[in-house]
Amino acid sequence: MAEEPVAGILLEGLKRVEYRGYDSAGMATISDGSLAVRKGVGRVSEIERARRLSELPGNIGMAHTRWATHGGVTDENAHPHASCGGLVAVIHNGIIENYIPLKKGLSSRGHRFRSETDTEVVAHLIEDEYKRTRDPLRATLATTKRLKGQYALAVLFQDRPDVMVGARKDAPLIVGVGQEKMFLASDVLAFIEHTDRTIFLDNFEVAEITKDRVRIVGPGGREVKRKPTQVAWELSDVSKSDFAHYTLKEINEQPRTVLSASVQEPGKVEEFARAIRKAKSVYITASGTSYHAGLLMKFRLNKEAKVRADTVVAGELKEHKGFLGKGSVVVVFSQSGETADVMDAVKEAKKRGARVYSVVNAAGSTLARESDGVLLLNCGPEVGVAATKSFTAQVVVANMVVDAVLGKKRSNGFKELSEAVTEALKCDEQVRDLAEKYKHRTDFYFVARGYESAVAMEGALKLKELSYIHAEGMPASELKHGTLALIERGTPVVLLNPSGELQADSLSNAEELRARGADVIGVSDAKADVYKHFIRVPKVQQKFTPIVEAIPLQLLAYHMSVARRNDPDYPRNLAKSVTVK
Ligand code: G6P
Repeated sequence: MAEEPVAGILLEGLKRVEYRGYDSAGMATISDGSLAVRKGVGRVSEIERARRLSELPGNIGMAHTRWATHGGVTDENAHPHASCGGLVAVIHNGIIENYIPLKKGLSSRGHRFRSETDTEVVAHLIEDEYKRTRDPLRATLATTKRLKGQYALAVLFQDRPDVMVGARKDAPLIVGVGQEKMFLASDVLAFIEHTDRTIFLDNFEVAEITKDRVRIVGPGGREVKRKPTQVAWELSDVSKSDFAHYTLKEINEQPRTVLSASVQEPGKVEEFARAIRKAKSVYITASGTSYHAGLLMKFRLNKEAKVRADTVVAGELKEHKGFLGKGSVVVVFSQSGETADVMDAVKEAKKRGARVYSVVNAAGSTLARESDGVLLLNCGPEVGVAATKSFTAQVVVANMVVDAVLGKKRSNGFKELSEAVTEALKCDEQVRDLAEKYKHRTDFYFVARGYESAVAMEGALKLKELSYIHAEGMPASELKHGTLALIERGTPVVLLNPSGELQADSLSNAEELRARGADVIGVSDAKADVYKHFIRVPKVQQKFTPIVEAIPLQLLAYHMSVARRNDPDYPRNLAKSVTVK
């Protein structure tokens, strides 16, 4: 909402959050007392070309990119959704779990539906309330009381071109406070070009914004006073600079980000370590790439610090609560701090009286705000859908915590690590050639032993996310228990095998693979004849090997994606922030 036409601003904002990987988009504005909605399927640029979103008139409007949950990817199911009376339009992130009974009730009262989405019921419900109260904020607040599930909502009212209302529960919603401009968005990136002053809404709060005022009420309707905070991320951090894609830019930032991750507020790492040492039980939980960082932490906690820790993927924590209770510590890894599975796990942990210590990149995120202790990754915004620099930053922070648990005064060696990452990045051209050679393969395997097994899983995940090739990562010892049956002539198998006590066993596995025709791609500081291809990574302290090994794996996934002509900033079926369960 602004003093000028907003469609152009909204379109820019949409493009900034499109990296999340959504499938359709739309926009609604109010002008001269009428509400206009345009929407469609595909990328924002395609929809703009076909529907000219940026030409919608008006000084107030909203826009949305969708990642389908209820209802297929169609024009009708794209947001915004207007009520049948045309009085109200909404956009929504999340899932309304009780939309079926709500829809039945609305239909029996004569409401007509145009989409198959769960979201559309919200527009109709608010319309009913608004007709009664003529108060945008009250109508939205009353409606949210009837919703089950998760939501971040923005609502427009056709006869109120001066107001927009937002509401949230378990999905992020942030107010951007500008000069004669006000924003509601699920990510600061959407408005950071216009303002870095933000107000983070809490669960069950409803906010009404005008171009120069914000009013927030809690679930009971009582006014909440909250001052804007400044977000630290510079706009320059979210441009692609000279790189072809965000993913490539972020991979190349790692010599710097492993260093910035190592700079933590004095005493914070030790506080984490103390909590872990004193805990009755320790759980480590996360999703996707962040989970792999958690596995690495567990390995060192068990092996070196003799601290027992259980790793459970966040979406499953509820099912593993045998040792979760008062006195437990739950360590949570998350780049975004907004992943729904992760927040669900946190809710369960808190319900059972456990304390939550998180390692997170987004400082103002829900996870950061709801944790008992927070360590930040300090690696700047990660735009590429595949996590790259946030993973290596997580490994840095996890190691600092384990070192502190081990009683080491301070972790060191970060300068050498940063130089090693620069060195590792030099494999870029070699990896690009490998990607060209293997781009038509349909299956890839990643194996390793011990600590590195989690990196093998991460390599497989990267390849799947970016290049859509089937890939599996597992401990090398596990190969013979089934997977070897799938190895045939030319099957690429990446083996992570740093020099050390497990090297010989891994080389035996490599021999077994070669005997079955596999092309073994060795990633190591030491060459061996059994490797068909060898990617040299520098020798580093053992705790840092995952960081230098991750570099060629990230580059492999990236180049494979480019070789197969996928766009690594726009993967299908994936979203960077998965804010639904
Ligand atoms: C999504 C992404 C993954 C990511 C995971 C966890 O599924 O596609 O790449 O690792 O979420 O994200 P988080 O922000 O919690 O680290």
